[in-house]
Amino acid sequence: MESKKVSKIGVLTSGGDAPGMNAAIRAVIRTSIYHGLEAFGIMRGYSGMIDDDIFKMESRSVANIIQRGGTILKTARSKEFLEYEGRKKAYENLKKRGIDGLVIIGGDGSFKGAQKFSNEFDIPCIGLPGTIDKDIAGSDFTIGFDTAVNTAVEAIDKIRDTADAHDRLFIVEVMGRDAGYIALHSGIATGAENILIPETKTDIEDLIESLTEKERRQKLVNLVVVAEGDEFGGGNEIAAIIKRRIPSADTRVCILGHIQRGGSPTCLDRLIASRMGFHAVECLINGKHNVMVGIVNNKMHYTPLDNAVKAKQKIPEDWFRIAKILAS
Ligand code: F6P
Repeated sequence: MESKKVSKIGVLTSGGDAPGMNAAIRAVIRTSIYHGLEAFGIMRGYSGMIDDDIFKMESRSVANIIQRGGTILKTARSKEFLEYEGRKKAYENLKKRGIDGLVIIGGDGSFKGAQKFSNEFDIPCIGLPGTIDKDIAGSDFTIGFDTAVNTAVEAIDKIRDTADAHDRLFIVEVMGRDAGYIALHSGIATGAENILIPETKTDIEDLIESLTEKERRQKLVNLVVVAEGDEFGGGNEIAAIIKRRIPSADTRVCILGHIQRGGSPTCLDRLIASRMGFHAVECLINGKHNVMVGIVNNKMHYTPLDNAVKAKQKIPEDWFRIAKILAS
């Protein structure tokens, strides 16, 4: 079946912002214009589509943004778009401008909405994985993860300095929603003694045993990196258990929070965002519709939007062993 020719592309960012989203917007706008298409920015994700907050963008509109965190299009999690009536309003606003293709930069929730919208109104949608959580199947990296994890590493290194000065046990909570990639990557990279993530069963007895054993060896600096989605809870919950079980430990908690979402994107995030944004437009032009553009083994990889929302990335088995053995 011959796909319709796309002539006007809208781009939006949706869900939690992630560093590198601006680089992706820039790539979508400039590639569209290069191919002679018209490009539109949609403000605040699907909310802007419903509220008709849509504007024409030119090449200059995206000047000086590749290095900026956040998203110039702003972002939101729209409740109205979950309802058919909201999606219909959104469609009418696209239709009156002739926008016939969409690029959605966001996480799996945003892709679910895109798939539904596309099925209902026959508007081809391309997804770009934009989330610090790295929890989307079909891409080795998501836009924003590298920056977030580097921010976490920088912060944890600083915490280690003060932990060392006081011989303290620090519990550092990192983001990731229900995924443990930020914790695992930053934990290994900072030599954390224990890393607790939702993908593995957290064995509290094992943690207590390891901390007690380190205390015996007078290894007084201990860093526990815990993903916010761990089944025992975040930093405060883990610290409460440790304080109960090892009252002698001088324990502090640090919750890194939203600083992980901000800041200038790393080179890797700018690069993957630029590549993904470029290929998103080529997909729309070439009739490869309703896919998420990812990168696997450094090559472009296309996953049907439906599948991208169903599966999660898998953590390689050996990473767990590396984390455990190297921190002993
Ligand atoms: O999905 C990105 C993320 O930063 C998660 O890591 C975190 O759980 C969540 O968003 C926080 O959301 P909010 O900014 O709405 O508090």
